[in-house]
Amino acid sequence: MAILHDMDFLLIFLSLGGIFVLCLYRRMSRETRSEPTNWPVVGMLPGVLQNLHRAHEYATQVLSECGGTYVFEGPWFFNIDMLFTCDPANIHHIFSKNFPNYPKGPQFRKIFEILGDGIFNADYELWEIHRRVTLSFLTNSNFYILLLNSAWGKVETGLMPVLDHFCGQGKDFDLQEIFQRFTFDNICKLVLDYDPGSLCIDLPYIPCEKAFSNSVEPLLHRHVVPERIWKLQRWMNFGNEKTLDEAKKAFDEFIFPRVFLKDDKEQEDHIDDDFKLMKIFKKVYEENKIDSSGDMREFLKDTALSSMFAGRDTTSTCLTWLFWLVAKNPCTEAKILQEIETELKIKGDSCWRFFDVEESRKLAYLHGALCESLRLFPPVALEHKSPIHDDILPSGHRLRKNSKVIISFYSVGRMEKVWGKDCLDFKPERWINSANGRIRHEPSYNFPAFNAGPRTCIGKEMAFIQMKVVAASVIYHYRVELVEGHPVAPLDSVILQAKHGLRVRLTKRT
Ligand code: HEM
Repeated sequence: MAILHDMDFLLIFLSLGGIFVLCLYRRMSRETRSEPTNWPVVGMLPGVLQNLHRAHEYATQVLSECGGTYVFEGPWFFNIDMLFTCDPANIHHIFSKNFPNYPKGPQFRKIFEILGDGIFNADYELWEIHRRVTLSFLTNSNFYILLLNSAWGKVETGLMPVLDHFCGQGKDFDLQEIFQRFTFDNICKLVLDYDPGSLCIDLPYIPCEKAFSNSVEPLLHRHVVPERIWKLQRWMNFGNEKTLDEAKKAFDEFIFPRVFLKDDKEQEDHIDDDFKLMKIFKKVYEENKIDSSGDMREFLKDTALSSMFAGRDTTSTCLTWLFWLVAKNPCTEAKILQEIETELKIKGDSCWRFFDVEESRKLAYLHGALCESLRLFPPVALEHKSPIHDDILPSGHRLRKNSKVIISFYSVGRMEKVWGKDCLDFKPERWINSANGRIRHEPSYNFPAFNAGPRTCIGKEMAFIQMKVVAASVIYHYRVELVEGHPVAPLDSVILQAKHGLRVRLTKRT
């Protein structure tokens, strides 16, 4: 009996020792990798919170070590487990092949409740109406005339005078803020038929304009912080939730008076043609008896706000990173300049402008540079989906219905197995087809900056035109120099702005 006891002790001792060694080994091997430790009760949350200040970089590190897909396990009972992926095969499956199984879903709507019944939150019938109407507006030939006029008008009366002012003073300034004001004025003009004039020398404070930048960081936090906690924060009105509440008020105050009211005859009388987005949506609302959660005014406000989100932050963010990348790679700047001069035949003529969309299409190298900026810094850094039925992804991962999937667009562009060993280099050439000098097509599951499948961005064409007009004008007239020592890193938010802005100094080209 005594011998049996000794044997038992020995076995228990050896088993415990074995478990300890195994744990130590797993821990040590994890320490050389970035994967967060899965602790009892709190799950992987501590590791994620510890890296939240560099969320996109961290997700990319973990995903590339795990072959592109990773299951995050949150604290027990909080229901925030989620699958992260940047695997192109999974992206193709989720966004295109099995699209009907992946609506935005109720979770997405909760996180982005600020967008109400706008297109980004909508699913099924409401989404189809939004998409059809917005698409017909953006592809109408009148729209391109409107777009070129408003973009050029803003370059001439807003952007150039402001840049001249800073250049003349020799002062450094935040180029990102200038681009945000440019796109804000432009999108307001296109959506609300109203130019708020935020881009002028005084740089006036307009609460709605600032509210866009302020709200994107809290929206990322809602993805990782358990719902009960952010709801408690909202109830107590502090921190990120207070910021979101203030942003909502600023949006309401700015947009409500500028969407058409049902019985506002006076306002409608000023509308002299039918090609106004809000007017079109008002008609659609009445004709389709749209089942929205508020009244028509609320619906129009949500519609306008989504379009403004779509048009302000995306293009300004892409332009910001383009200028940072070009400043870091001076030889690309020389090539862009050369292309402007040869393709637009403007050498020696400082007063030039685009005359039509065709001209902007000639700038293939600049187009490639913008694609590189979008690949390395996709303005919409991630997408959130939730399957309505159980599913198995091409990577072999199982998904339960209503579970959460985060697709990291930021990480796809930085995967060696997708973009090769030089994936972190800025190379506009990789987008040019060497046989004909045209832009090379890249499947959207490898390059999802504009989303993929039926919900692909419908403003892509418009965005490229606007960005080329701005980039070509600035590069042609100024040498842009980065302010030394100013930190540049992506913001930990759903929109990948530069965290501390982009401080630059300009000198005029002679
Ligand atoms: C560089 C510029 C742009 C980028 C990178 C971009 C990217 C994207 C992405 C990733 C989505 C999917 C978002 C989601 O479903 O949650 C999207 C959707 C959308 N974008 Fe863009 N966008 C850009 C510019 C624009 C512009 C200028 C407009 C015009 C107002 C626009 C209009 C839209 C609309 C209406 C949708 C919703 C499509 C749908 O759900 O069916 N975008 N965009």
